[in-house]
Amino acid sequence: MVVDSEKKMTPGEVEKAVARAGGVDRKTVRLAIKDLVSLGELSYTYLYGTSFLEKSFERPVRVSKRIVIKPPEKAYQPQGQEVVVSIAGGAAFGNGAHPSTCLALRALDSVLCDSCCLRRRTPLTGLDVGTGTGILAIALARLGVRKVIATDIDPCAVSEATYNVTLNGLAEQVMIMNTPLEELATYFSVIVANLSYPTLRRLSPLLSEKLEQDGILILSGFKEPASKDLGQSYGEQGLRLVRDEIENKWMCLTFCKMEP
Ligand SMILES: C[S@@+](CC[C@H](N)C(=O)[O-])C[C@H]1O[C@@H](n2cnc3c(N)ncnc32)[C@H](O)[C@@H]1O
Repeated sequence: MVVDSEKKMTPGEVEKAVARAGGVDRKTVRLAIKDLVSLGELSYTYLYGTSFLEKSFERPVRVSKRIVIKPPEKAYQPQGQEVVVSIAGGAAFGNGAHPSTCLALRALDSVLCDSCCLRRRTPLTGLDVGTGTGILAIALARLGVRKVIATDIDPCAVSEATYNVTLNGLAEQVMIMNTPLEELATYFSVIVANLSYPTLRRLSPLLSEKLEQDGILILSGFKEPASKDLGQSYGEQGLRLVRDEIENKWMCLTFCKMEP
């Protein structure tokens, strides 16, 4: 219920909803919640004076086939093809808990593993627009993209993302900046943008232009009703929709720039 809920839930709301759904008393639910918090499955978060109960990211959490997110203080030994992204707690968006981040990470994992567009070659350059904590930029590098640029308009995000990139030992590979998209002189094999619907719509000509031929563009950060319009806007820029995924009404679209 906490994981699937569309909005953040207070402990009281969770107690009430679970008790009603399961036909049990609230005291039993309260004790079960306490157990899940001590096991590290759930955690209390605080926002503007209200506490919420959320899936815990205070321990390593697998968010896709290969990507595991963890706080820096927790150790995790990756198995097989797993890649680990350490994210320090802070004010910037992107600890991995939000569906829009998870969807973008799953899309990245999928296209960098088995995309029909990228399978033919190693993606050389990646761009993360609206990087927040740097989570998607770090994942791009961990999944094999050789050079990554990440941008954000918020100075606090730029500073936190820079810290997280260094924490992950990727300072040589990932560059965090606040340069506007139009001033970037490079073209990219993979672009990911977890931004609001109006921003994604406004940026459609620029994001499409910055993509190399056969490149992949992943858009996240919007709800299902916006996807038709975004699909059309990016379609008009010559991109073809190759993948979509939905989680809790949040949507993620993946496009490929194919030969006309
Ligand atoms: C929803 S958060 C995404 C954070 C992270 N990439 C993730 O997936 O969790 C959006 C971020 O985009 C930044 N942002 C908003 N508009 C932007 C723009 N036009 N160019 C660059 N960054 C922007 C915000 O400051 C914020 O940090």
